[in-house]
Amino acid sequence: MIIDSPLKIRNITLSNRIVLPPMARELSEEGKVSDELIDYYQKRADGTGLIIVEHSYVSPEGIASKRQLSMADDSVIDGFKKLTDAIHAQGSFAIAQISHAGFESMSEDKLNLNEMTPEDMDEVRNAFIEAAVRTQKAGFDGVEIHSAHGYFLNQFYSPYTNKRTDEYGGDLENRIRLHNEIIREVRDRVGEDYIIAIRLGAYDYLDDGSKLEDIPIAVNSFIENGVDLIDISGGLCRYRSPVSKEPGYFKELSKIAKESCDVPVILTGGVKKAKDAERLLEEEYCDLIGIGRAFLMDAEWSKKALYKLRKIE
Ligand SMILES: Cc1cc2nc3c(=O)[nH]c(=O)nc-3n(C[C@H](O)[C@H](O)[C@H](O)COP(=O)(O)O)c2cc1C
Repeated sequence: MIIDSPLKIRNITLSNRIVLPPMARELSEEGKVSDELIDYYQKRADGTGLIIVEHSYVSPEGIASKRQLSMADDSVIDGFKKLTDAIHAQGSFAIAQISHAGFESMSEDKLNLNEMTPEDMDEVRNAFIEAAVRTQKAGFDGVEIHSAHGYFLNQFYSPYTNKRTDEYGGDLENRIRLHNEIIREVRDRVGEDYIIAIRLGAYDYLDDGSKLEDIPIAVNSFIENGVDLIDISGGLCRYRSPVSKEPGYFKELSKIAKESCDVPVILTGGVKKAKDAERLLEEEYCDLIGIGRAFLMDAEWSKKALYKLRKIE
């Protein structure tokens, strides 16, 4: 059985291959962690290899929803510290996802990536970097940069939305330039022992969107610049596949990523049953499996899944 085998990433060893993927719970109080939120994560951390905490905005202009968590200033750090302590107390590990919603933001100062000036770019780049540094101060084991589901960095990645004519638009190297600048600077600031993950909206399923052949190039470029963990999801199609409802519906995308690189790859989407999770791992579509909505419904998903699979063996 693979699902209950450990996996080392940088200096931590996950106890198993189950991941709680980031899911916005809308339970924050003015951007800060609430007791209800701690309770939600604590319950799911027991028996789960890795918890990726839902996206937190890096700056107020990047807010995606009213009760989203914030990583935009130091006042949030103490609350997150309580959250990471609670997750660690269950023997699990915690990664914080940081995001900017770009033109999907609910703020009035929406950023249109195609109209951004060099000063605007500096501001957002710095917001990502400072937010990543904050996650480390809050006791997380790593940070995940959100570049999926049509948000800001995904808007840069996708040629469907990125129409810039400077060095941040056009070919793939340009469309991931901002990602890599952020990754390099974050690595510099957090040191060698901190995990940097990226959630890559790997494919848009649109004629003019991102291409499957971009995946290996982007993934390896991110790794060269400092990424340790690749988390595969959908791009402008968001977290559902427009072409499949099968368990692991993004598996072709994660397979391409996994075959092209030597860091762990997470696959998430449509997996509800323990046996499907194990099969996707056995068939080498991924190294870690994300269980989202099924885990939302059942806080004991991990424990029950491992119990069921051990009984079958
Ligand atoms: C309520 C809800 C909130 C979500 N919030 C986030 C988020 O904050 N960041 C993110 O990258 N994905 C988010 N997602 C996507 C999930 O991480 C996951 O990819 C998606 O639910 C598909 O997996 P599943 O079929 O196992 O649920 C969210 C999904 C749901 C249902």
